[in-house]
Amino acid sequence: MTLAATNLAILGLQWGDEGKGKLVDLLSARFKNVTRFQGGNNAGHTVVVNGQSIALHQVPSGALHPGCFLVVGSGVVLNLEVFLKELENLRARGFDLTGRLLISDKAHIILPQHIALDLWREGGANKIGTTGRGIGPAYEMKASRMGLRMGDLLHPECLAERIQLGYEEVKILLGSTGTLAPLETITANLLQLAQPLLPLIGNTQDYLFKAWKAGESILFEGAQATLLDIDHGTYPYVTSSNCSIGGLFTGTGLPPQALDHVLGVAKAYTTRVGAGPMPSELLDATGEQLRQVGREFGTTTGRPRRCGWFDAVITRHACRINGAGGLGIMKLDVMDGFAEVGMVVGYRDGNGGLVSGLPCCAADWAEIQPVVKKFKGWAAPTRGITDPKDLPAEARTYLAALCDEVETPMAYLSTGPDRAEGYVAPGCFLEPLLG
Ligand code: IMP
Repeated sequence: MTLAATNLAILGLQWGDEGKGKLVDLLSARFKNVTRFQGGNNAGHTVVVNGQSIALHQVPSGALHPGCFLVVGSGVVLNLEVFLKELENLRARGFDLTGRLLISDKAHIILPQHIALDLWREGGANKIGTTGRGIGPAYEMKASRMGLRMGDLLHPECLAERIQLGYEEVKILLGSTGTLAPLETITANLLQLAQPLLPLIGNTQDYLFKAWKAGESILFEGAQATLLDIDHGTYPYVTSSNCSIGGLFTGTGLPPQALDHVLGVAKAYTTRVGAGPMPSELLDATGEQLRQVGREFGTTTGRPRRCGWFDAVITRHACRINGAGGLGIMKLDVMDGFAEVGMVVGYRDGNGGLVSGLPCCAADWAEIQPVVKKFKGWAAPTRGITDPKDLPAEARTYLAALCDEVETPMAYLSTGPDRAEGYVAPGCFLEPLLG
């Protein structure tokens, strides 16, 4: 198999769970390097190998391709216990990552007190429906200069001192409600857990820079998605990292010139987990049908996802921010059989006026009423279609309107969960990779 000659980012355009995993799986065999650059074990997707499924949360997806070098970038936050379990699971299935995995010395570590704080907050009135994995507090500690980096593990003598900074603050916050293990236990456990990972820690910025200069292809694997981005998402109902294009650069240390193409990924409809605005949400039988047919239950937490029509307003916003050169539209087949399908093509504010751009604050979002355009549904199934000519005319009309609304051309259409179910849009930048 020939390797790609370009570097490609795969980024989510909605609230996550768009099906990026299928595209990363399809594409990663063509790349010499696959790198994660943000997020932690709040992400997750399942890959199926020889009929067995493996859930990946933190290990980059190229794990299943022996020729692929995996990089965990500096923008990632890592739960070492979960990471080790993932490595063990992969090893048990015959995928040994020895010699092809590098973890940034600048990546931050999720500690037990971060998880405790996340869960404590989620138990209160202001919960935002996090995954409860300690992601937010780990990034908070990073920003407040009390975080622990992978590189700190190479200096065990300083570890307790570094951990103590944030630990003491969390302890005060949790007060008598907290059940935090003693600092010494946390430090000792961490040191023990870290042992097998120590040889894998290094300067990923340097590695990636040299790989790029040597002409080795790099696939950048986004986690979460633009509407969950801490700056450009539906704040405060977001995750704590930059999941859109800016996070790629801060989370790898590479310059913009190192990126050739951006593939934005969206479902043909919309889902979100957790609280927060979702103007296209359908709280009726249609929403339930999307959930059941699309199996919309979280990979990481198992929570039922909120479902609604495709929201062109948020997706256009995401395409613009990321500079998406093409769209990967996933799960079109889930919409088979509806007499009518909708698409949110605009928002109205509390006064009924059309809103340009995306609202800023939760209070602005609360007023939003979606403008829904209706399309005739398609009776013939799209499941498994691999040639655009085979699409029912109504589905073609729907997809053309979708691309038009988000001002981005189609690059890939997925018509089912299997690798073979879908096609690459003729002439697009993915064609040399997947054609
Ligand atoms: P956190 O990332 O655990 O702090 O959660 C913050 C918000 O992001 C919550 O609404 C989560 O449900 C959401 N979230 C985090 N990771 C993912 C993901 O991979 N897919 C979908 N939603 C996510």
